[in-house]
Parts: sequence; C-alpha cells; structure tokens
Amino acid sequence: MSKTAIYVHIPFCESKCIYCDFASFCNAENEKERYFKTLENEIKNTPYKGREVDTIYIGGGTPSCVKVEYIEALLVTIRKTFVLSNDVEISIECNPNSVNLEKLKRYKSIGINRLSFGVQSLHNDALKTIGRLHTSEMALNAIKMAQNVGFKNINADLLIGLPNSTADGLIEDAYKLLDAGVTHISAYMLQVEEGAKLYGLVKSGKVILPTDDESVAQYDALVSAQEKRGFSRYEISNFALKNFECKHNLKYWSGEEYIGFGLGAHSYLGDVRWANARDFAGYYNGEIKEEHLTTEEKIEEKIMLGLRCKLGFSKGELARLGYKIDDKTNYKNYLTKGILLEKGDRVYLKPEFYGVSNYIIANLLP
Ligand SMILES: C[S@@+](CC[C@H](N)C(=O)[O-])C[C@H]1O[C@@H](n2cnc3c(N)ncnc32)[C@H](O)[C@@H]1O
Ligand code: SF4
Repeated sequence: MSKTAIYVHIPFCESKCIYCDFASFCNAENEKERYFKTLENEIKNTPYKGREVDTIYIGGGTPSCVKVEYIEALLVTIRKTFVLSNDVEISIECNPNSVNLEKLKRYKSIGINRLSFGVQSLHNDALKTIGRLHTSEMALNAIKMAQNVGFKNINADLLIGLPNSTADGLIEDAYKLLDAGVTHISAYMLQVEEGAKLYGLVKSGKVILPTDDESVAQYDALVSAQEKRGFSRYEISNFALKNFECKHNLKYWSGEEYIGFGLGAHSYLGDVRWANARDFAGYYNGEIKEEHLTTEEKIEEKIMLGLRCKLGFSKGELARLGYKIDDKTNYKNYLTKGILLEKGDRVYLKPEFYGVSNYIIANLLP
C-alpha cells in the first residue's frame, strides 16, 4: 500500500485578505479551544489508524497565528495515531507577521521541516491594497529567521496579477526571494472569487486588475527569472531547486490518496472523496459531503493533474477507464508537433506549454 498524505486545516486568520475565499475566520478566538479538541478527536477516531504517513501539510487559514502548543499537540496526536516515515515531510503555512524566532525554533523542535510563507508580493503598496498585515521587510526578515533556525525547505507564495503589478515588479520580487534563500516558490494567478471582497471591488471598478495578457506576461517573466537561477517549474504554479519539490503536493497531483482533518478538509481514499463541513457548527456535528466521480470525471482529472506537472499521466490508466487516447486526433497532432512527449506508458506536456495547458487539456478530453 502506498504511503498516506495528511492535510490538516487550521481555519483561523488575523484579518481577511480581500481576494480570499478559503475557509478561514477572523475574531474566532472563542472557537480555538473547542476546534483543536474536535480536531484531536477526529484524528484519534479515524478508521485509518496505523497507516504509514510520509507527508503532513498543516494549512489554512493561518496555522502560524495559533499558539504553538496547539500545533505541538496536533502533531503528538498524529504521531500516536499513524506511523510516520523516517523521511516524513511536515509543512506548515505561515504568515510573515505571525512568526518570530521563538515560534520558528519551536516548529523545528516538534519536527516541522518545511515552511510555506504567504508573501504574495514584496511591494508594500500592493500588500496594503490586498489587506495583508505584513510588509516586504517583514517577509524577508521571516525568511532570514527561518534560515537562521536551520530550515532549508522554505517556500514563498507569490500572487500574479495583483492591482498595479508589472512583470518587472514580479521579477524584482522573485530575485529578492531567491537572494533571501527560499528553495521553492508557488506563484498563483490571482483568482477573483465570488465569495471574496475583491469580486465587488472589481465589479464596481474600485479596483482595476491587469489584463489577462499582462498577467500572462508576468507569469512568463517569473518563469524565466527563476529558471535563470536554477529553479525548475515542476508544476504550472510551482518552482523549486532540485530536491526541494513539495512531496505533499506531488502526491495530490499523482492522484494518490490523502486524508484531510479539520473544517472544510477534503479526503480521498479508496475511490471515495469527501469534504468536512466548512462551518464550525457543521464540523463539530461531523457533517460531511461525499463526492463520487463519474468515469469521465476521473479521466479528466488524470489528464488535467498529470499535464500540469512533471508527473504526466499514464495511458494504461486511461485505457483501464475505457479511454484510448491514442485514437484521438488532437493527441496525435500534439505528439507530432512535440507539444506532448511520450516516454513508455507516460505522457508529458512540455513545460513551455504549461501556460496554455487549459486549452491543450480541453482538446484531449473524451
Ligand atoms: C489559503 S492561503 C493560506 C496561507 C496563508 N494564510 C497566507 O495567506 O499567507 C494559501 C495561498 O493561496 C493563495 N491564494 C489565496 N487566495 C487566492 C486567490 N483568490 N487567487 C490565487 N491565489 C490565492 C495565496 O497565495 C496564499 O498564500
Ligand atoms: S489569504 Fe491566507 S491570511 Fe489571507 S484570509 Fe486567506 S487564509 Fe487568511
């Protein structure tokens, strides 16, 4: 049996960023004790006790804004419930304003070995507009502190397409982060989600975003800046130095199973997926929503996840789901043009086409 990935959701934040539609709550201090108690029980009572786990991802929300004691107790419960591999990757998402030297040292001492900082931008005007609580200086300082504590596996999240952003500005940010010593960058295209404040601001014209072409130019600039410094793009939005790819995310993209704990967390085991309720009351009541993918959806997912990252997809797996992709004209054309590459049973998209992967993927679906 392959090893399991665990995701734990910490739904607390100190303020809500204008673009964010994740399950996260501010001013919920009163919920914390009950939340972590419920989380502990959920983990202790899992029917998947005793499985070997090789990646744990503590995400949010803002896991770094809760007391370290909560995170420590959480990891103790996970260690008691599951068998952790010797080389287990344990990541935690941190906002630069909610870490200090003491906290980072404690994270290290409890076995966390990968930090993911939500930097988003190193331009203070942009950070202010989107409602972040940190400045560029705080972000760079947090990365330096993490290095001083001995963390080697450090990610920074960046957003592409923020108000007033430019390709040159993003290149500047990337180089500052690389100079500061991050070993991984996740660069996401800003999504205007209906549930986020930004949606209304954009609709009413109060916030103007770069055009799609400008955002693509920012993305391309970011890709070449990082490649010049030895970072390779191993997924459409993810870049890393050799051996610093996020093992946890690679497991998602390769379609491996994962167990999610906490409010809104998703799980995928034995062909079934489910999600915990996205509100405190529903989560405390143990409400879940099951999802069964149709065969067509499974095929789509395999192609989509595989072609957006270096893992590719397996033609054999698609054939077992009843889809012979060799018969598809678009598939043959993409092979002839060198856009897709075949190695044995696996098929890969050449990284220079990641930027147009949506279009290519759509042309390959059943
Ligand atoms: C859910 S957040 C949690 C991390 C942490 N709370 C933070 O914000 O720094 C993970 C990442 O998702 C990305 N993200 C959140 N909302 C997004 C949006 N609307 N569009 C694109 N990326 C988004 C941000 O880069 C963020 O760092
Ligand atoms: S982006 Fe991060 S800090 Fe901002 S509201 Fe969302 S989860 Fe919280």
